[in-house]
Amino acid sequence: MTATAFTPRVFSGIQPSGGLTLGNYLGALRRFVDMQDAGTHECIFCVVDLHALTTWQAPDKLHAQTREAAAAFIAAGIDPSRSILFNQAAVPEHAQLAWLFNCVARMGWMRRMTQWKDKAGKNSEEASLGLFAYPALMAADILAYHATHVPVGEDQKQHLELTRDIAAKFNHDYGQDFFPITEPVIGGPAARVMSLRDGTKKMSKSDPSDMSRINLSDDADTIAQKFRKARTDPEPLPETYGELKDRPEARNLVDILAGLQGRTSEEVMGDVAGQGWGQFKPYLAEVAVETLGPITTEMNRLMADPAEIDRTLGAGALRAREIASPILAKTMDIMGIVRSV
Ligand code: TYM
Repeated sequence: MTATAFTPRVFSGIQPSGGLTLGNYLGALRRFVDMQDAGTHECIFCVVDLHALTTWQAPDKLHAQTREAAAAFIAAGIDPSRSILFNQAAVPEHAQLAWLFNCVARMGWMRRMTQWKDKAGKNSEEASLGLFAYPALMAADILAYHATHVPVGEDQKQHLELTRDIAAKFNHDYGQDFFPITEPVIGGPAARVMSLRDGTKKMSKSDPSDMSRINLSDDADTIAQKFRKARTDPEPLPETYGELKDRPEARNLVDILAGLQGRTSEEVMGDVAGQGWGQFKPYLAEVAVETLGPITTEMNRLMADPAEIDRTLGAGALRAREIASPILAKTMDIMGIVRSV
């Protein structure tokens, strides 16, 4: 069944597998806030701690990073009274539905996932089973709420296609139009923010080099230093955005500026055409500090009261369960599972 037959509902998640980056902010968080503020969809946002476990996480770090991610959501503008905000493990329906989807998804589908290939690398025998099954849990996150729209960065596109395949196969196998065929919401100049050290690699919280990314926890001096040292080519900026086609590092910095200013990259080029890096980089750093500074300050304020963050997540989990629990129950009924309650 197409998504239009369902209540308009947004779901998205962020892993607490490290501090959040400018890529997470521009590609995801900022767009979550826009969708919340548009008021057209019920919005559900999740710190996906079970996903983080697919690679090794030191327990104390995972705990702290889960709260930090929740603080980042709120500091960026997610209002827990208007949107539902919680951590994945607090709603057991995610893991339960994921098991059912493990039995719907096919090995061949999972093996084709580029993120599995990248993360497992040559050492796939040593990778966790969870890392392989990861996209089925992601499908469960989304479909446990019958979410119709999922805002994400470009790198999650293939996982969302798999979510659609799982929904379609379930609907087909059981002869029911039960799960929506969810629409990805990917776009804007910053759908794929690249590393500051290598314009062909995405900016990532797991990159070993801290200079490759801007963290939401970085202070103004660190942000300025990282942009100053960002890799570029020697040419000044051209007259038009199209001329940046084969200059990935330069294009990335223009895209970041556009993302921060909420404009298109073409519009931004009108202002910065012809500039050298000595002029452009300090300007970009200034805009980044202006945008990110208040978020970092608010994150730090929220993290000073972890009990309040836990209360917010707990209240969100109760609201999330009210939606997910009947959908899981109906899924089990359709599959012929005896439920004792
Ligand atoms: P994660 O935690 O890697 O990233 C969270 C969100 O940030 C986006 N993102 C980026 N966008 C642009 N440029 C970048 N460099 C960049 N890096 C990250 C991601 O696309 C994502 O939207 N599997 C997901 C989390 C997840 C999820 C879900 C998302 C679990 N269940 C259900 C949506 C719906 C992930 O690992 O995202």
